[in-house]
Amino acid sequence: MTPERKPTTLQRLRAMRAAGEKIAMLTCYDACFAQVLDAAGVDVLLVGDSLGMVLQGRPSTLPVTLDEMAYHTRCVATAGPRAWLIGDLPFGSYQASVEQALHSAARLMQAGAQMVKLEGGGWTTEVVRQLVERGIPVCAHLGLTPQSVHALGGWRVQGREDQAADTLRRQARELAEAGAAMLVLELVPSALAGSITAALEIPVIGIGAGPLCSGQVLVLHDMLGLAPGRPPRFVRDFMADGDGAEPGIAAAVRRYVAAVKDGGFPLESVHTY
Ligand code: KIV
Repeated sequence: MTPERKPTTLQRLRAMRAAGEKIAMLTCYDACFAQVLDAAGVDVLLVGDSLGMVLQGRPSTLPVTLDEMAYHTRCVATAGPRAWLIGDLPFGSYQASVEQALHSAARLMQAGAQMVKLEGGGWTTEVVRQLVERGIPVCAHLGLTPQSVHALGGWRVQGREDQAADTLRRQARELAEAGAAMLVLELVPSALAGSITAALEIPVIGIGAGPLCSGQVLVLHDMLGLAPGRPPRFVRDFMADGDGAEPGIAAAVRRYVAAVKDGGFPLESVHTY
């Protein structure tokens, strides 16, 4: 009999990172999937503002509101997952001031989030420090930050040039020093993600950032092969996995968790930049 899994805590995630045990994270937007993902052993559920594109069919994450994020966070939290639960602060809910960020973060925490995520480095460092001082765990997000997609000139790999890589390294260090307890790195070269991960003690979770991070995250609908069009290079469709693979969503999620844990995903030669 499998022993009952204990709720995942920040301390547990830190211990996993220290022990080199890979962390499996997926986006999740509702109670039904929260149960499936939790039972499949996903360590961290992210109620990402990607829901604007995935659920609402918008061209970017920019139109997503704080009310919508609070609603979906509550839906996921209501399932009572043992996984750690992160709520994403949407565009326009933390950029104006520290006060605005505190107010918005409180909304997501009251909806059931255990940590909030915000995008960007530099100016966000003080915001992170203030949230953390008030008892709100924060996950930072660097690299391709989708809320800045227009400023970045599209969905493109970040940190390829030496100066841009140095900036990302510096911002990651500053965010960790300000108290960020986790960092998502999106669409950065594998070697850069590896060097940032090695330099930090906090878990670094990659998406399109190679196998050297402390864990991986994918958008749920991407790894289930539900997203229309050709998937980006860093996505693997776990529903379509191999002959004789166990059918169904729960089995696909279990394959994802197993592949992240044993280093089978992502592969340097296939999914990285
Ligand atoms: O919103 C989201 O789903 C995210 C992940 C892609 C990391 O930020």
